[in-house]
Amino acid sequence: MEAIVNCTRLYYVQMGQGIPLLLVHGYPLDHTLWLAQMDRLSDIAQVIAPDLRGFGQSDAPDGICTMVAYADDLAALLDALKIGPVVVCGLSMGGYIALAFWKKYAARVRGLILVDTRAGADAPAARQGRLDMVEQVKQHGAKPAADAMLPRLLAESTRQLRPDVVEFAHAMMLRQPPVGIIGAQLGMAERPDSTPILPTINVPTLAVFGAEDVVTPAETEGRDLAAAIPGAKLVVLPDAGHLSNLEQPDAFNTAVREFLACVA
Ligand code: MLT
Repeated sequence: MEAIVNCTRLYYVQMGQGIPLLLVHGYPLDHTLWLAQMDRLSDIAQVIAPDLRGFGQSDAPDGICTMVAYADDLAALLDALKIGPVVVCGLSMGGYIALAFWKKYAARVRGLILVDTRAGADAPAARQGRLDMVEQVKQHGAKPAADAMLPRLLAESTRQLRPDVVEFAHAMMLRQPPVGIIGAQLGMAERPDSTPILPTINVPTLAVFGAEDVVTPAETEGRDLAAAIPGAKLVVLPDAGHLSNLEQPDAFNTAVREFLACVA
């Protein structure tokens, strides 16, 4: 399905009935990251899984896309679909966007699920790395971004034993439009530190991290994130890396089901 929001055509999947659950993918990914959640949670949730602008089947306008701009698109999409307060579930960049959404649209949030993400801004070296990647993608397309991310996204055991998951993640990254990858990298490089807003979060919050996530490690980023949000629960999934919902869908979905049952 498609909707025009903020002059941009967004592709999205909407299915199921129950509490509205907005699934926000990471970088450089698309809504298919959430296939196992769309399939297996739609008996208890109305799942909305968009392709963010610049990714998947959505339009890919030129230029930087800030986390707030993505959040504005999501708010406009919910308006178009006439959906009230939602549980926002965001993975990595999707988590940065979920926090931007909370900051601007808190009244529209019933709960937060923050997956393999962080609140902090980039250190200077990480910011420079993004600008370097932008140059590479301008010259060579999505491949350098996909190849750089792949070894960091998945747990060692996934990479060794599950070639289907490796291939699925790699293919997803390779098909993303270069202009979308560039816009996201520039937006992430500029994102502000969201740490100060964490104590303001007064809705139920679940943090889910892969035990082997090397991008946002559970023992540092996961622990710090959950500790700063009043009442937040941290779940660490064994045998999962940065894409914990894709690598361990059953355990991930169990954690989300238990959480949703507690969200008013
Ligand atoms: C993601 O998975 O969305 C990225 O790792 C986020 C980032 O590059 O900071």
